[in-house]
Amino acid sequence: MIKTKKNLDKMTDNEKVDYLNETVLPEEGSIPAYILADPSIYELEHKNVFMKTWVFIGHESEIPNKNDYMLRDVAGYSVIISRTADNEIKAFYNMCTHRGMKLCRADKGNNASFVCSYHGFNFKNNGDLIGVPLQKDIYGDTLDKSKLGLIEVRIESYKGLLFGTWNEEAEPLTYFLGDFKWYLDILVGRADMEVVGPPQRFILHSNWKIGADNFVGDSYHTMVTHGSIAKLGMVPSATYSKMGYQIHTKNGHGLNLGMPNPDFAFPEDLKSEYKSNLSNEQYEVLANLKNMIGNIFPNLSFLISHTKIKDQLISNTSIRLWKPIDNGKMEVIAWFLVEKNAPEEWKKRSRESFILTFSPSGIFEQDDTEVFTDITQAATGHMPVMKELTYNYTMGLHRKPVTDFAGPGIVYDDKFTEANQRNFYRYWLDLMKG
Ligand code: FES
Ligand code: FE
Repeated sequence: MIKTKKNLDKMTDNEKVDYLNETVLPEEGSIPAYILADPSIYELEHKNVFMKTWVFIGHESEIPNKNDYMLRDVAGYSVIISRTADNEIKAFYNMCTHRGMKLCRADKGNNASFVCSYHGFNFKNNGDLIGVPLQKDIYGDTLDKSKLGLIEVRIESYKGLLFGTWNEEAEPLTYFLGDFKWYLDILVGRADMEVVGPPQRFILHSNWKIGADNFVGDSYHTMVTHGSIAKLGMVPSATYSKMGYQIHTKNGHGLNLGMPNPDFAFPEDLKSEYKSNLSNEQYEVLANLKNMIGNIFPNLSFLISHTKIKDQLISNTSIRLWKPIDNGKMEVIAWFLVEKNAPEEWKKRSRESFILTFSPSGIFEQDDTEVFTDITQAATGHMPVMKELTYNYTMGLHRKPVTDFAGPGIVYDDKFTEANQRNFYRYWLDLMKG
């Protein structure tokens, strides 16, 4: 029997999990549309996915100096990320412990302490409460400041990527990333990398999973959705997106390596830096890379893209968060990353190539966001046909992974399979079960 969205609203969490088990069938290549649109799924997802797993909060290079700070959030709750006077990065729930006022209201800055705008409690950026207006007069000796420090949030980083979680029992980040680190080394560990400029932020009327799904495994759309870019000669051919590897590891992580590439699209001067940071096998991947597109579960996607501009091939590296902010709505936050030691002119051109391709005005971004919003809208209807709609994820079910690739994970030797999306939804479902 097909249960309607109305039934879902009235189900207990346990009944919802049973229903998800019946209808979300990654191994069969069948994913129901309601998981992109149903408000009760959105709520359960917040509780069982975003409150339980590691979520990306930023890059260490965004706060390079002592006392730098930035505001981010973990699963919708505002968090201050601070570099203390001891050069340690710490994160605190952005809430004054006196009466719950939001403590810091600026996006970014440099401050050794934060003064609450309600009654003026002053907190050092290591979380300690260091000042209370008129303390002696009004509290005498009764106020123990050491008990009123800010609430610390658990954060860990990998090669500059900072993640936070509210789950004290979450496995260490290094285990959560597991084998996927081999590929993250190529993305962000190949050289000393830095974020340039503030992240780009824009709001999309789309479910966040569509972005993650698109980056984790959908190379198939490229030749159609972005066909105009091939016609402009900025990418080699309409079918270039098939060549390479699709790879996934445990915990829903996955990526696509576009290979081979006859041209080296990274700064030549940095070859020795790359070689010193990567194994020979990782360097070979980098040297032959046409593009690299993937997703760290749940919602941090990344991209190394090569674009020919004015006859010159140039790569750009970016990471992007599909941050859910409401049912059917997300904020996209995209960071441009570049090799710190690259020539200034190369950095400038790389950033231009990022803005031209992936940014609110970028040619790839505009193509993709049309698709994301249309899919969300179609899944959101109240007609039975929309409630019962399932998507087809059967591509490549008949294929066997290869074993002769140098990197870890389950590897397919071209990118046109949906194995990565099936792996993504399998882990999503496992978490949804609580
Ligand atoms: Fe912050 Fe009172 S709520 S000082
Ligand atoms: Fe795309």
